[in-house]
Amino acid sequence: MIQKLKGTYDVYGDLAKKHDYVKKLFQAVCESYNYSYIETPLIERSELFHRGVGETTDIVTKETYDFLDRGNRENTIRPEGTAGIARAIIEDKLYNTLPLKLWYIGSMFRYERPQKGRYRELRQMGVEFYGSNDPISDAEVISLGINFLKELGLKDVKVKINSIGGTETRIKYKDALIKHFKSDIDNFCDDCKERLTKNPLRILDCKIDSDKELIKNAPSILDYLNDDEVKHFEKVKEYLDTLEIEYEVDDSLVRGLDYYTNTVFEYVTKSNEFGSIGGGGRYNNLLKSLDGPDVPAVGFAFGLDRIVSELENSEIKLNLNDELDCYILTITEKENDYALELAQKLRMCGFKIDLDLSGKNMKNKFKEADRYKAKQIIIIGEDEVINDEVTIRDNITKEETKVTIDNIIDYFDVNL
Ligand code: HAM
Repeated sequence: MIQKLKGTYDVYGDLAKKHDYVKKLFQAVCESYNYSYIETPLIERSELFHRGVGETTDIVTKETYDFLDRGNRENTIRPEGTAGIARAIIEDKLYNTLPLKLWYIGSMFRYERPQKGRYRELRQMGVEFYGSNDPISDAEVISLGINFLKELGLKDVKVKINSIGGTETRIKYKDALIKHFKSDIDNFCDDCKERLTKNPLRILDCKIDSDKELIKNAPSILDYLNDDEVKHFEKVKEYLDTLEIEYEVDDSLVRGLDYYTNTVFEYVTKSNEFGSIGGGGRYNNLLKSLDGPDVPAVGFAFGLDRIVSELENSEIKLNLNDELDCYILTITEKENDYALELAQKLRMCGFKIDLDLSGKNMKNKFKEADRYKAKQIIIIGEDEVINDEVTIRDNITKEETKVTIDNIIDYFDVNL
């Protein structure tokens, strides 16, 4: 038997309904903020992620699914959505009409060590807002995520935020970190030893060394921000206060991708079982670094898989809307034509209808109606066909009513 790959899973049944619910709600919230949909390819040139996400990041050094195509070109199955969207914006000159507010959803692939909440095929839903460096756009983007989580019913969530400044600030801060960690780096994990010269900020969120005193009392990036960066960060917080969004400043939040500038943030649940359920930030230099124009941007992505697990953990009952309005069943095959026509007519009027095609016995037909959570059952026998009527059974009260064919829609309008 061929089995699925490690870190992947199949989505069907109730889980499929939950995924669908979460996606539709995300779409509705994005549309309420006037975002439009973008879809970019699952495969891109590897160089895009090397330059976009960052040569020294864990994602690029350890986690990408890379392959040579038949023309010997280096391609990568996307590990995240932001770089591909940036590529599309440059290639199709979408930056000519700013601001650009885009939302997306889809699978990403990272060769991570699989565990609960961490997959190799992960699904992300995200937004990218191009064309404004105003802190109000940071707050708007953060608020979109919070509103979505609230509408889902996830209450115990908050935003962790930080500012990592611009390039110059980070150069100074990296120097300070190198000085701080250098003398004791031999006691850190192998990854951190390498990070010290390549990307010392990443030492701050190392999972292995997180308890080390040297990490706890590392210099804070907030002390290295210049005046404009401080002002920007203060303003973002002020807007979050206005929107009554609960946030916590966490100066060790550095994020795992290199394109961020100034504001970075993560959505976390109080249980924090899976780490962050979403994360993002401002990335003013990404387009430029990919040979595009100088356009500021801010965005984030949620992990759909983690959000669905979080909903299950919190025992939140979603209104999955998975009931059938009506299940039509016939006593004998002779009534099938009549049933087919009726099903057609009702579906055209917008009702969710299924009909028995199995030729099972009556008991099993009723069981089938229950399996589909039918609210009403239409029963058609010889008499009904002769008299141009149907018997409708309310599947909750079990009461039966005879209704003429011409009155069924009125009956459903009242009883469904
Ligand atoms: P990220 O923090 O790498 O950011 O991923 C965003 C979210 O995807 C995480 O918070 C998490 O919920 C989910 N996620 C990441 N890796 C996994 C995994 N292996 N299994 C399950 N879920 C996972 C980005 O990808 C940025 N592109 C976000 C962004 C958009 N920044 C600006 N715009």
